[in-house]
Amino acid sequence: MRVLSGIQPSGNLHLGNYFAMMKRMIDYQEHHTLFCFVVNLHALTSVFEAQKLRENTFAACCDFLALGIDPEKSYFYVQSDVPEVTELTWLLSNVTPMGLLERGHSYKDKLAKGIPANHGLFAYPVLMAADILLYGADIVPVGKDQKQHLEMTRDIAIRFNQTYGEVFVVPEPDIPDSVAMVPGLDGQKMSKSYGNTIDIFSPENVMKKRVMSIVTDATPVEAPKNPDTCNLFAIYSLFLDEAGRKELRARYLAPGLKYGEVKKELAEVIWNYFAPYRQRRDELMKDPEGVHRIMQRGAEKARAVAAHYLEAARHATGIDY
Ligand code: ADP
Ligand code: TRP
Repeated sequence: MRVLSGIQPSGNLHLGNYFAMMKRMIDYQEHHTLFCFVVNLHALTSVFEAQKLRENTFAACCDFLALGIDPEKSYFYVQSDVPEVTELTWLLSNVTPMGLLERGHSYKDKLAKGIPANHGLFAYPVLMAADILLYGADIVPVGKDQKQHLEMTRDIAIRFNQTYGEVFVVPEPDIPDSVAMVPGLDGQKMSKSYGNTIDIFSPENVMKKRVMSIVTDATPVEAPKNPDTCNLFAIYSLFLDEAGRKELRARYLAPGLKYGEVKKELAEVIWNYFAPYRQRRDELMKDPEGVHRIMQRGAEKARAVAAHYLEAARHATGIDY
């Protein structure tokens, strides 16, 4: 089975990205064919400084490699290194109804925030469909916020197949409940754009400060607490197995639990969890040439797969005169 997902190089990685997408991708590579990429063409919709985009793209490559993507076992590449994706985007554009794109939540949210509408922002889901269909992906692990984009990809694939004959695999989203929406410090979805993240590679004092500022309720120490409505519990649970979660739940239900103490513990758990990755990341960041070689090799491998689907789409549409 082919598993595929991408991430934008638009800032620091946080726990939401890691648990909803990156960790699952890394687990998938053991038993499936994994396609994992850094979507710098998508990031052009929000990053307008060349040097910043370069640096963020390089950092995202190091992040994934440090966290355990194995470029030998999987296809790991930068989106723009496979130019086939832009050609496919055009072929897909012509079976994509305006209405489908106009209904995009992400597009509408951005407009509502006052971000000027441009064609890139509007066509974002078509490029994303091309990212997925170009590799015949069966499964796409993402967080819940990407569900509609996946539905659009499926619609576009079905329309293309109906118009021109069966060319594309219609992919399935993979969004397990446990990580569909990782909450941030304030209980809303953890997101760069809400400023409520816990970043996985920030310095220790910054990370600690963030954890200590997780919002909790005003239940007095001596009263039992409700784990099911507690943001701190939800975040801590990401690091616990079934038994650990049960134990933490029991501590919540007994009187005397101090949120401050749980936060201190959690800060330590997070720090230790990412420590080995942090060290590996520092090494990679110091070796840009080595990292570039890995990415070039990844793109070559990916292009070989992309060529197959692009050729089929070219033939189906008749541009291969
Ligand atoms: P952000 O919202 O911080 O800008 P991205 O849009 O770059 O994050 O998300 C990258 C990936 O991580 C996507 O698959 C997205 O669904 C997932 N993701 C991001 N934040 C969360 C979250 N809080 N809960 C679950 N998944 C998330
Ligand atoms: N839109 C996704 C996000 O913001 C990133 C993305 C681009 C993606 N292409 C993709 C995710 C293909 C999965 C598959 O997170």
